[in-house]
Amino acid sequence: MDIENFIDLLKSRRSIRAYKPDPIPDEYIQKIIEAARWAPSGGDAQPWEFIVIKRKEIKDKIADLFMESIKPLRQAELTREKELRIPALEIEMPEPGFKSAPVFILLCGDARTNEAFPLTVYQKWGTEVFISNLAGAFLCMQLAAKSLGLGSQWVSSSGSLMENKLKELLNIPEKIKIYDMMAVGYPAYQLGPRSPRKIDEMTHSERYDRSKLRTDQQIKEFIINLRERDREEMEGLMRRSGQKKLKNGNQDEGENN
Ligand SMILES: Cc1cc2nc3c(=O)[nH]c(=O)nc-3n(C[C@H](O)[C@H](O)[C@H](O)COP(=O)(O)O)c2cc1C
Repeated sequence: MDIENFIDLLKSRRSIRAYKPDPIPDEYIQKIIEAARWAPSGGDAQPWEFIVIKRKEIKDKIADLFMESIKPLRQAELTREKELRIPALEIEMPEPGFKSAPVFILLCGDARTNEAFPLTVYQKWGTEVFISNLAGAFLCMQLAAKSLGLGSQWVSSSGSLMENKLKELLNIPEKIKIYDMMAVGYPAYQLGPRSPRKIDEMTHSERYDRSKLRTDQQIKEFIINLRERDREEMEGLMRRSGQKKLKNGNQDEGENN
């Protein structure tokens, strides 16, 4: 693969939040895990473990746990300035979009492998490096999925908020930490590339160019623009799924379509 193809793969990977019901071949799931297996990791610790979930009743239970776990997140989000709110948390959704994915892959890690790090790193920053290792593996999974013509979603609240219930449901031993979950399947819709920040604005030659340091206001405007984009994408998704109206948490908005 040349660099242009590689960048095209990166550009075309988008978070997919609704899926066709078609199953994914088992060899695709193997390839996705194979890709993650080759990820770099601090001290070559390779902390990862993958739980592949295809059974509907288990996926449904995970979706229910997820809905329960996001309630406090949603509540907090509604206290925020409206333009900064994450649209998916602002809206009361009956179920998460990822529920329609034919496969969930729960990425877990064994933090005992942190001992592979240099001693000071292990003692002082073990958790940070552990998380970075799992994030690298996760990205490899997402890119592998895209290269197989699949869509995926990074579902992050799974680890922190519903960890114990999920561990019980999936028989995960105490020593194993849940990281995040990837929902994967054939996308029910297509998205074009998003607009990342410009290279010049984020690149510094030899030393940090302070003229490029963004003001607090610029950062805020940047985030507001992101949320506007998310809101548009979300409204498109809701329209496609037949939901005519976005029900706003504060009931302060009317018809959005
Ligand atoms: C660490 C991390 C956590 C994320 N958690 C979630 C999540 O819980 N739910 C979700 O829908 N998307 C999640 N995402 C996806 C981001 O929202 C998404 O990557 C970002 O908005 C850019 O959009 P794109 O993936 O379509 O390019 C996460 C991404 C990362 C890297």
